[in-house]
Amino acid sequence: SHSHGEGPFIAALDQGTTSSRCIIFDRDGRIVSVDQKEHEQIFPRPGWVEHNATEIWRNVQEVIAGAITKAGVTRADIQAIGITNQRETTLLWDRKTGQPVHNAIVWQDTRTDALCKELGRNVGQDRFRRETGLPLATYFAGPKVRWLLDNVEGLRERAEAGDILFGTMDSWVIWNLTGGVNGGRHVTDVTNASRTLLMNLHSMEWDERICSSIGVPPQVLPEIRSSAEVYGEVRGGTLGELLRGVPVASALGDQQAALFGQTCFDEGEAKSTYGTGTFMLINTAHKAINSYSGLITTVGYRIGDQQAVYALEGSIAVTGALVQWMRDQMGLISTAAEIETLASSVEDNGGAYFVPAFSGLFAPYWRSDARGVIAGLSRYVTKAHIARAVLEATAWQTKEIADAMKKDSGVEVSALKVDGGMTANNLLMQTLADVLDAPVVRPMVAETTALGAAYAAGLATGFWPDVHALRANWRRAAEWTPAMDAETRDREYKLWLKAVQRTMGWLE
Ligand code: G3P
Repeated sequence: SHSHGEGPFIAALDQGTTSSRCIIFDRDGRIVSVDQKEHEQIFPRPGWVEHNATEIWRNVQEVIAGAITKAGVTRADIQAIGITNQRETTLLWDRKTGQPVHNAIVWQDTRTDALCKELGRNVGQDRFRRETGLPLATYFAGPKVRWLLDNVEGLRERAEAGDILFGTMDSWVIWNLTGGVNGGRHVTDVTNASRTLLMNLHSMEWDERICSSIGVPPQVLPEIRSSAEVYGEVRGGTLGELLRGVPVASALGDQQAALFGQTCFDEGEAKSTYGTGTFMLINTAHKAINSYSGLITTVGYRIGDQQAVYALEGSIAVTGALVQWMRDQMGLISTAAEIETLASSVEDNGGAYFVPAFSGLFAPYWRSDARGVIAGLSRYVTKAHIARAVLEATAWQTKEIADAMKKDSGVEVSALKVDGGMTANNLLMQTLADVLDAPVVRPMVAETTALGAAYAAGLATGFWPDVHALRANWRRAAEWTPAMDAETRDREYKLWLKAVQRTMGWLE
C-alpha cells in the first residue's frame, strides 16, 4: 500500500446491488485500497425487491472514508471521484428534507408487471422500442416511478409542486455528495438515463410524450449529462471535511463502466460481467442498432461533449444471485465459494437443469410471467448436481445472449472478456468456454466496473490524456479454452432450452 503524498489518485465509488465499495486507483490503473459494505436486501412480497437508500448513503460515506484511510492519503492526493452504480433502481426523495419517500425499488423487482402490460396495450411496445431502445419490462425505472406516485399517499401532488426528486443511484449519490439539501446537483448521466424508458435514445433528452404516457411529471427528472465531466464538488455529509472540494467527475451505469474499464473502445469489442446478474455489452460505435433478437439498445458512454457511443446489451437478471440464494435461502452452502467445491464433486449435472427466472426472464425473452424451475429431477440427483446446474445456468444464459448478439450485430464473439466476482470460479469459467465454444479471458484488474468509473473521472480531469493511454493498462491474467465436444454441447443446450420453456406463463 502507498504512503501519504506519493502521488495523485482517483477514487471510484461503485454503488452495487448487494454492496457499495470504494476503490482508490493509481495512474497505472492499479488498486491502492478497497473498502466495501453490504446493505440489506428487502423482499416485502414475492417478486418485490427494495433497498433502504438512507442505509446506502451511509454505507457510501463509510466506504469512501474507509478506502481513503486504508490508502493513507488525504484529499490533496485525490484528483477526482468517479461514480458507478447498479442501474434502474429507482428512488424518489424530498428536495427540502433530503429524505427518501419510500424504499428504493430495485431493478429486479416485478411489481410493475400489470402496469407494463397496460402501457403495452395503450401506447404500444413498438413506440418504446423505437424511441428508447428498450422493451416495456418491469426491469426499467420509468414504470417504477409511476408506481411510487400512485401508491405513496399524496406523493403525486408533492411531485407536481416540485418538491420531489427522482433519481437512480448515481443521482442520489451525486446529489448527496455535492451538498444534498444545501445545493446538491440533481443530475444523471446518459447511460443511466438510457435505462429509464423515459429518455429518447437518439436526442438523448427526456422524451416528453413518453414521460407523460407513463405518468412521470417533468419536475422530478434530473438533468442528463455526459458520463465524464465535472458535475460538482464534494461538499456533503460526513465527507465534507475529508474530501471537500474534490471534483465528482464521472457517472456510468455499472455495466457501461465495466465496458469502459475493459477498454472496449472499438466497434465490435464486447465484455460480460458476472455479478448479481450478468450483462454482456458490445460496442456498436455511433450507431444505435435495433435488436430483433431480444437484446436492448443502450448508451455505452459519452465523454464530455464528444459523440455518444452506443452498445447492444444482453441482460440476465439472475446469476450470482442464484448462488446467494443457494447460500442464504436454501442453506445448501455456507459461502459463495463453496458452490465450486460442491459442483466439482460430481462429473455432471445428473440430469438436472435450473432456470432461475426469479424476476421473470430478461434477455432474450422479456417474460415477467416466468418463474424459476428445476427440471429433470430424479432420485439420483444430489445437492452436488444442483450446484452444478446452478453454474451451468449462468453459462447457458450467456450462450443465449451471445447467439442473439451474433444475429443482431453480425459479430461473432471470438474471445469473451469477462470480469466480476463470479470469474473467481474456475469451473464456471471453464464451463463458459465450453458452451460458448470460444476462449474466455480475464484481465489483471478484475474490478473493471470501478476501474471504468475511475478512467472516466480521470479523462474528465486530465489525469489521463485519452483512451489510448488506458488501453496500455489492460493485461491478460487468465484464459480458459473450450474443451467440450459439439455433440455434448448441442444435446445439453437442447435440454436447457426445454427447461426454459417450462418457466414461461407460470403467472398467467
Ligand atoms: O442493470 C442492473 C445492473 O446494473 C446490476 O449490476 O453488478 O449491481 O448486479 P450489479
